[in-house]
Amino acid sequence: DEALDRIARLPKAELHTHFEGAAPPEFIRDLAKKRSVDLSGIFRRDGSYDYRDFVHFLSVYEVATSVLKTPEDFGRLCTAFLEKSAENGVVYSETFLSPDFCGGGDVSAWREYLHAIREAAKAAERDMGVTLRGIVTCIRHFGPDQAKRTARCAAETADDWLTGFGMGGDENKGKQGDFAYAFDMAREAGLRLTTHAGEWRGPSEVRDALALGVERLGHGVRASEDPALVEELAERGTTLEVCPGSNVFLGVYDTLSKHPIDALRDKGVNVTVSTDDPPFFHTTMRREYVNLARTFHWDEAVFTDLNRTAMAAAFCDDATREKIL
Ligand code: ADE
Ligand code: ZN
Repeated sequence: DEALDRIARLPKAELHTHFEGAAPPEFIRDLAKKRSVDLSGIFRRDGSYDYRDFVHFLSVYEVATSVLKTPEDFGRLCTAFLEKSAENGVVYSETFLSPDFCGGGDVSAWREYLHAIREAAKAAERDMGVTLRGIVTCIRHFGPDQAKRTARCAAETADDWLTGFGMGGDENKGKQGDFAYAFDMAREAGLRLTTHAGEWRGPSEVRDALALGVERLGHGVRASEDPALVEELAERGTTLEVCPGSNVFLGVYDTLSKHPIDALRDKGVNVTVSTDDPPFFHTTMRREYVNLARTFHWDEAVFTDLNRTAMAAAFCDDATREKIL
């Protein structure tokens, strides 16, 4: 199908990936072998990551990440990640970086990891034509005190590359408001804000996220259960970082046809499309586009619009934005 082929080959902007979650399983396996760590428990016989549900996914994620030790490891991961992105036509990407996994929240250690990641990103931009920007993310189930340390790392390294602050992790632990101090610190340092909300919990969680002062939401899809909230999101111009393949793989929705992305778009909400943790959810940006085109009969103009929405909500500066799409 020629139309589908054109859609698959479009240049794409992606706003929501978790850096460690983009690690191909072979990358983690090789590193584990080199370090003599037995990680056989987190892989299936076919070599893919093995987990039962979201909470187990988070723990497998942390085990996989534990073999990433040095700044050089994170630099090599950056190259591996961006190679896959470029293969999928991604020209602009924002990724969640976790100081928690890069020195445990120590600012000077974090600087070294960040430097290695940025050097690899610079080379990838030159060699593969994909531009990366970083969003520091705190991890909700690590609690508000650790989030403050993470926000301090973010505030100390905020610039035209490290442009955002966010929160991932287990949405069922604690409340958005528990992290207000961390988000305030990040905002005062000039960082743009996003948080995971409305993936596992419903409309009230999304309202709590808006009260933190974020301009984007990670997922946000369960806002669709409340028409007044959907209207508010459309009015505010809040951008949703929607990850349809992730939602279906983790069982937030049974099938893509039941996913609210098309309905949210119809109601005037700014929706964008991302992969979240591509190898964990057996997805790529190309697959996301093809599956959405097939399921919702979206034509090329819809995807062009999606990419424009993503670049308008991107946390980069205007000069970078204008160079991309
Ligand atoms: N960390 C990595 N992937 C995540 C997701 N989809 N939701 C929350 N935290 C995450
Ligand atoms: Zn996510």
